[in-house]
Amino acid sequence: MQETVAEAQELAADSSMDKKTQDGSRGPRHRSLPPAVGLLLSMALMNALLYLCLDWFFVAPPRSSPVSTHCPYGHFRMAQMKNCSPWLSCEELRTEVRPLKRIGEGAVKRVFLSEWKERKVALSRLTSLEMKDDFLHGLRMLKSLQSKHVVTLLGYCEDDSTILTEYHPLGSLSNLEETLNLSKYQNVNTWQHRLQLAVDYVSIIDYLHHSPLGTLVMCDSSDLSKTLSQYLLTSNFSLVVNDLDALPLVNRSSGALVKCGHRELHGDFVAPEQLWPYGEDTPFDDDLMPPYDEKIDIWKIPDVSSFLLGHVEGSDMVRFHLFDIHKACKSQTPAERPTAQDILDTYKKVLNLLRDSVMSQTREML
Ligand SMILES: Nc1ncnc2c1ncn2[C@@H]1O[C@H](COP(=O)(O)OP(=O)(O)OP(=O)(O)O)[C@@H](O)[C@H]1O
Ligand SMILES: *[C@@H]1O[C@H](CO)[C@@H](O)[C@H](O)[C@H]1NC(C)=O
Ligand SMILES: *[C@@H]1O[C@H](CO)[C@@H](O)[C@H](O)[C@H]1NC(C)=O
Ligand SMILES: *[C@@H]1O[C@H](CO)[C@@H](O)[C@H](O)[C@H]1NC(C)=O
Repeated sequence: MQETVAEAQELAADSSMDKKTQDGSRGPRHRSLPPAVGLLLSMALMNALLYLCLDWFFVAPPRSSPVSTHCPYGHFRMAQMKNCSPWLSCEELRTEVRPLKRIGEGAVKRVFLSEWKERKVALSRLTSLEMKDDFLHGLRMLKSLQSKHVVTLLGYCEDDSTILTEYHPLGSLSNLEETLNLSKYQNVNTWQHRLQLAVDYVSIIDYLHHSPLGTLVMCDSSDLSKTLSQYLLTSNFSLVVNDLDALPLVNRSSGALVKCGHRELHGDFVAPEQLWPYGEDTPFDDDLMPPYDEKIDIWKIPDVSSFLLGHVEGSDMVRFHLFDIHKACKSQTPAERPTAQDILDTYKKVLNLLRDSVMSQTREML
């Protein structure tokens, strides 16, 4: 950067010298600016230009599209589509969608990269009939929660147990390190973009906790890699949630709490209230297992964010600034943990603070 600055000032000086010689050869002096003023002016101009460039480099929003207005219920629009189309029917799914290759598989769905009208799309099929209830729950959630936070639904067929969604070539968040390691993505492998992913992630949790259906808990998250596999990385480097098969509802007014599955959970990725509380001598019994609320999602945020921040220059500086809020997320008492909104506010504050300080450090060199 210093080199560029020096070059720019040299350039500025050169151009004002040109002016001086021109001034000298043409017409009387009093009609032009004194050379010192000219020099100052052109230097100011160059500095202003450099500031603009800096702004462009450091403040340019990581993604280009302002969220286009969403389609009415039952319709979708993908990138490069002008109008909203109705969700595809069973008939259209059967005749117009051509599966190409398998790209993923979980407990509930087998996912195929497919082609529809020369576009790439993702076709999910139920893996086994036992999972039909989860599949239908996921579909109902997908239909109700369409927004910028959720993968776009293109169609579904309950009879065939198929769901068609927008395809995201960068795949799930579990591939993040491999993707950012590719040379063509080196330019986004920065603490700024990675912190922005953490902002996206917490925005999704905040959305689920205040969804149109009520407070939903992201239950498909009993370990880090399972949690990551529920989110897709878009080509614009933002996040959408993809798998909504396990999203039970907490109802404060009726006092209804949730349990994530019927089996015993272990480890410290899950919140402490998700662990069997009665000791090793008492065998696990789902009926005796106390239920819990959406604060289990808050407990997991520091681990997911830390993964998203990774180990690039500046990651540790960001971690340092998030230390207090992350400590609060790990409170043993669920009610003492912050809300997703509190965390989001802190993340955004830190993002702006650090961006500004990086910029002012760079400007000080001018
Ligand atoms: N639209 C998509 N674009 C790209 N990849 C996708 C898409 N949908 C799914 N995948 C890939 O397929 C994997 C499995 O999908 P999904 O999580 O929906 O299956 P699942 O059976 O519900 O999984 P789980 O066992 O977590 O319930 C994802 O982790 C992702 O890698
Ligand atoms: C990504 O950005 C492009 C514009 O550059 C936009 O057309 C497209 O809709 C965006 N895609 C997503 C998934 O947001
Ligand atoms: C990143 O790439 C380097 C070399 O290109 C390789 O050694 C390393 O294992 C890769 N890391 C990941 C996480 O893929
Ligand atoms: C919560 O429970 C109350 C009382 O049982 C009920 O009226 C309300 O509809 C429930 N809210 C949601 C979002 O289900």
